[in-house]
Amino acid sequence: MKILVMGPPGAGKGSQSAKIVENYKMPSISTGQMFREAYASNDPVGIEAMKFIEQGNLVSDEITNELVKHRLLKHDTEKSFILDGYPRTVTQAIALDKMLGEMGTKLDAVINILSSNDVLFERMEARRVCKECGASYHLVFKKPRKNGVCDECGGELYQRADDTLESVKRRLSIYETKTKPLLDYYEKQGILYNVNGMQPFNNVYADIELVLRDL
Ligand code: AP5
Ligand code: MG
Repeated sequence: MKILVMGPPGAGKGSQSAKIVENYKMPSISTGQMFREAYASNDPVGIEAMKFIEQGNLVSDEITNELVKHRLLKHDTEKSFILDGYPRTVTQAIALDKMLGEMGTKLDAVINILSSNDVLFERMEARRVCKECGASYHLVFKKPRKNGVCDECGGELYQRADDTLESVKRRLSIYETKTKPLLDYYEKQGILYNVNGMQPFNNVYADIELVLRDL
């Protein structure tokens, strides 16, 4: 299975991808997470990318396409993978199709998690992320067992630099203009599946699983 999980910022792409990975044991490729990890390890690409991320802007197509191309060439992606947060411009979608074509493969499904802006603002405000493993929590809906500490690895939880009100507004606006047009692109390919993301976490996952089982 080669899947792409799409949706506006805060829709639940990362949380749902983590559950798919746990159940189906496929590698996950999250460009946002890769940029954050690169930044945390003082990698020049990460430091450059964070200038855009903090403001809620997109990193350039060139840098992002190169990052993904490099990752897709690793052998663990041959049978299956899940993309989270890439592509998010038409230019990136065309580049991805080209990369996959060269690998002799294509996407099987695009799962689009729908949500309203009210829900998205609330989710990003209350999100906390592990500095060590990137696991995501919510102060109400997915509380860590111990305040400020990751259940999975004991790492410290922090609030993402781009989860400020100003940055979230900018991310939502860029989603509308740059990323939403991709839904048409994938609808025309007949591989787009919409899922209601405004349900409790397990119900959203159950809807995603219905799509995956059909594949
Ligand atoms: P990225 O990290 O991809 O951020 P995003 O797209 O803005 O999405 P988020 O990670 O904020 O949200 P999510 O949908 O994963 O939600 P989550 O599961 O965490 O990208 C960050 C930045 O990197 C971009 O803005 C850009 O600058 C750059 N970048 C990345 N990719 C790029 C690309 N391709 N091109 C250019 N630039 C790129 O859930 C959110 C919260 O809600 C959590 O607290 C979670 O616990 C909670 N939650 C989830 N589901 C539910 C539910 N059903 N009920 C209740 N709570 C829930
Ligand atoms: Mg995410």
